[in-house]
Amino acid sequence: MRTRSEENPSAAGSNVLSAGNDVLSVDNLGKHYEVKKLFGGEKGTVKALDGVSFQLKKGETLAVVGESGCGKSTLAKALMQVESPSFGKVEINGQSIADISAQEFRHKMQMVFQDPYSSVNPRKKVGQIIAEPKVVNGGGTAKSLRREVQDLMQTVGLRPEYIDRYPHMFSGGQRQRIGLARALMMRPEILICDEPVSALDISIQAQVINLLMELQNKFSLSYIFITHDLSVVRHLADSVMVMYLGKVVEYGPRGSIFADPQHPYTKALLSSTPTVYDTEAQEEIILQGELPSPLEPPSGCAFHKRCPWAKDNCKTDVPSLDMIGDRVVACLYVKD
Ligand SMILES: Nc1ncnc2c1ncn2[C@@H]1O[C@H](COP(=O)(O)OP(=O)(O)OP(=O)(O)O)[C@@H](O)[C@H]1O
Ligand SMILES: [Mg+2]
Repeated sequence: MRTRSEENPSAAGSNVLSAGNDVLSVDNLGKHYEVKKLFGGEKGTVKALDGVSFQLKKGETLAVVGESGCGKSTLAKALMQVESPSFGKVEINGQSIADISAQEFRHKMQMVFQDPYSSVNPRKKVGQIIAEPKVVNGGGTAKSLRREVQDLMQTVGLRPEYIDRYPHMFSGGQRQRIGLARALMMRPEILICDEPVSALDISIQAQVINLLMELQNKFSLSYIFITHDLSVVRHLADSVMVMYLGKVVEYGPRGSIFADPQHPYTKALLSSTPTVYDTEAQEEIILQGELPSPLEPPSGCAFHKRCPWAKDNCKTDVPSLDMIGDRVVACLYVKD
């Protein structure tokens, strides 16, 4: 992976929220897709992820929020190396992931997916599904693996005697627990959760969120938690990163962002869930219009067409991500 900090000066120097000791450090990560436009067949570039930087400490949770299509899953895929990033640098405990073997990487980072139905193989028994990452990595005798799987099943709230059952015999919430046990089999340091509860019944969501929090304590896990649900973010995040069209518009400690959001887009997201504000009397911003196409993003500040504060220069000037108090904000009209 090559780094393009020099080519994207706005991203340089944005690792400002960290005092070191990060489990994960991400610098100017991007993923661009070359695509053919629907009409005319011309080529275009979708900047699905466009220079994102952040840090994550041991045992902490970074929530990634933003509307559908803003690049959250692309970020997850680029971090997991499922999609090779177009540019940027990722370090785990100070080591570039380019220098970490695939085998070792599985012990560093694992992912839990949104859909517990399609993310497990229906033809395999639960025990095989959970053990698989370790079997692929060549670990353990059949007996020790079975024991380990049953211990993990217990840890995630599944009955160990169900080890030889097939996934269709489990509910959605239980299948998400299977996915979690599978991810934990490698004893990762970082777990990426991409909308882990949004496909589940409301009544089950809180149980799985509570389980995630218990597991975080038990295994000192660091989470990247992707979600639309700001009440969940408020519940479990240490820091919050708000994305818009592949870029970070605001990133900082959860308390500051919920008590005093700065970017108009963050304000709009929080206005759509009024119960999550930490303080009364917040300025309400109702989000107008739809997310523009990432194939033809607006000039200047990508948010200007929907922004109630937009002035003329927002149409032409690209805001840099600047430190405002204890967070970074990309807006021409937010100043310290
Ligand atoms: N393989 C691909 N080729 C071209 N464009 C892609 C590809 N994968 C994703 N995109 C585009 O990149 C943008 C970001 O997609 P992504 O799936 O990361 O969004 P998201 O924030 O996860 O959305 P959601 O909340 O709906 O899950 C979207 O415009 C999407 O259409
Ligand atoms: Mg997604």
